[in-house]
Amino acid sequence: MIKIIGMGKSVPQKCVTNDELAGFLDTDDEWITTRTGIKTRYVCTDESLTSLSVEASNQALQNANLSAENIDMIICSTLCGDYLTPSLACAVAGQIGASCPAFDINAACTGFVYTLDIASAYIKSGKAQTILIICAEMMSTQADWNDRNTAVLFGDGAAACVITAGDALKYLSLSAIPEITILNLPSDTGNSPFIKSKREKSYLYMHGQEVFKFAVNIVGKDISKALEALGISSAQIDYYVLHQANKRIIDSIRVKLQQPEEKFPVNINKYGNISSVSVPLLLCEMLDEGKIKKGDKLFISAFGAGLTAGCCILIWE
Ligand code: ACO
Repeated sequence: MIKIIGMGKSVPQKCVTNDELAGFLDTDDEWITTRTGIKTRYVCTDESLTSLSVEASNQALQNANLSAENIDMIICSTLCGDYLTPSLACAVAGQIGASCPAFDINAACTGFVYTLDIASAYIKSGKAQTILIICAEMMSTQADWNDRNTAVLFGDGAAACVITAGDALKYLSLSAIPEITILNLPSDTGNSPFIKSKREKSYLYMHGQEVFKFAVNIVGKDISKALEALGISSAQIDYYVLHQANKRIIDSIRVKLQQPEEKFPVNINKYGNISSVSVPLLLCEMLDEGKIKKGDKLFISAFGAGLTAGCCILIWE
């Protein structure tokens, strides 16, 4: 089916510490660190989502030894690009010099696994050979900076990867359990004189404990199903690359599986939760650090608003 042949990443310049947040929110470093594992996050000041995505995409293309003309599709995962329309994928295509089909998808934090599935289907059908996937999120514009329950959790950034035909993807499963009340961000209703119930601009709402329970439950089930499908044990997985939403979620999954801590890479301490960017950014860092070797078995999993979830197993080529 597919393999990843190049990755890139980009985060904004501005790094915000927990102490800086405590300067204007009723919170402190101790609460944020022990409840979430987050120490810092990067937020946009001058950067746009397009500029972060272009930097990540150019790196990914360079690592794959390809140029934009070699790409025959761009799929971008984002909650919202710099424009509602055109898509972020089109904005990036224009700047990197690509002229292939380009579109966005929104599966919230699960976006990376959804884009892998779409890319794999296009490549399998023969309609595309080389696909650029971009995950890009500006959570700092979605969170309410007056709400300590959510503002401390998120960060901004972009990650990209180039996909071609290969044998790395061994298993992929997606799910959506429709439940829009515990994690959502309503759009506004504009100024239509005909709308009967008007919605003003609002911010990300999350019932943290419900999302926490959903995450631990669905990731646990996804791991069992994936291992069973491939007939392997949890010990045979080299790395569990899990969505970086809360270090305690990752720890509780690790404890259940009784696997060593070094199999659960973490970067939430540096970046917070960057929605669909978290997993590919972590993968990209692991590659840069030389952690991932040919033949390594990676279990990748993410969950988010929808509620959506998805997982896959890659044997690195
Ligand atoms: N600083 C200090 N106190 C705080 C803060 C803060 N930043 N935030 C909340 N509190 C307080 C609450 O007000 C509450 O106080 P009270 O007891 O006086 O009412 C207390 O801390 C405990 O609050 P809880 O919500 O019970 O805290 P919890 O331990 O559940 O942690 C958290 C909250 C971190 C949000 C956790 O529930 C979580 O990580 N949930 C999962 C989030 C997630 O996975 N999101 C992923 C999807 S995001 C997406 O899709 C875009």
